[in-house]
Amino acid sequence: MKAEREHAIGVFDSGIGGLTVVRALMDRLPFENLIYFGDTARVPYGIKSVETIQSFSAQIADYLMARQVKLLVVACNTMAAVASEVIKARVNVPVLDVIDAGARAAVAVSDRHAIGVIGTPTTINSNAYARSIQALRPDVRVYSQACPLFVPLVEEGWLDHEVTRLTAREYMKPVFVENIDTLVLGCTHYPLLKPLLQDVVGSSVRLVDSALTVAEQAAGLLQAMDLANPQRSQPSYRYVVTDIPLRFQALGSRFLGRDMPAVEMARFT
Ligand code: DGL
Repeated sequence: MKAEREHAIGVFDSGIGGLTVVRALMDRLPFENLIYFGDTARVPYGIKSVETIQSFSAQIADYLMARQVKLLVVACNTMAAVASEVIKARVNVPVLDVIDAGARAAVAVSDRHAIGVIGTPTTINSNAYARSIQALRPDVRVYSQACPLFVPLVEEGWLDHEVTRLTAREYMKPVFVENIDTLVLGCTHYPLLKPLLQDVVGSSVRLVDSALTVAEQAAGLLQAMDLANPQRSQPSYRYVVTDIPLRFQALGSRFLGRDMPAVEMARFT
């Protein structure tokens, strides 16, 4: 039997976007085994109700726990926004999520304490980012904006396309008025739009990528809990999905930043 330190980190997401978090974890923690679960049969979560997201998230947490993970990372901002307490209550390993990580990073870099947050409608309606940010620093002003068109635009591959640029300008209008100094990319898909968004908001606004910050948190936590994998061999990466849609490999590679290897299928009955 493997020692706990050699167990994998379980990363989960509503679909394929969470591979941006896997990519950040691979870069930051190159010796950790990873198991990724993407609920591709039921994506998108960002427009679903809280109850539905909570019950799907619980199923995925149970699936990963049955595979002996030592740490869970909730890569999907929408799940983190509305289901992170449900997940934490079900498992006996530490749980990190992109909202807590993004909120901490935003508070650390914001100098004028005016932070914009963009995400899916469910994430923004939950107010989870604003709550987390204000719990850390009550005097910070938070301006949130749902950007529902960004997920399909990214999945279409329109990362540097005029339609995406116009959409971004439109979404950013109300946030601009507030003169923010920091913008949290509160969705798995948005790191792929970083260059375009930086261009639209201007170089003086700092972009916070929660994929990078949650990877940093994972590294700190594994150290602090003495759970880092001592093995220095090539780690194992498993990808489990609930459906293999058209163009899956191409789309997966875009998020992962490298070739998408073979995936396994899981079905919830
Ligand atoms: N993973 C979701 C998020 O980060 C975006 C895709 C979806 O709506 O399921 O909010």
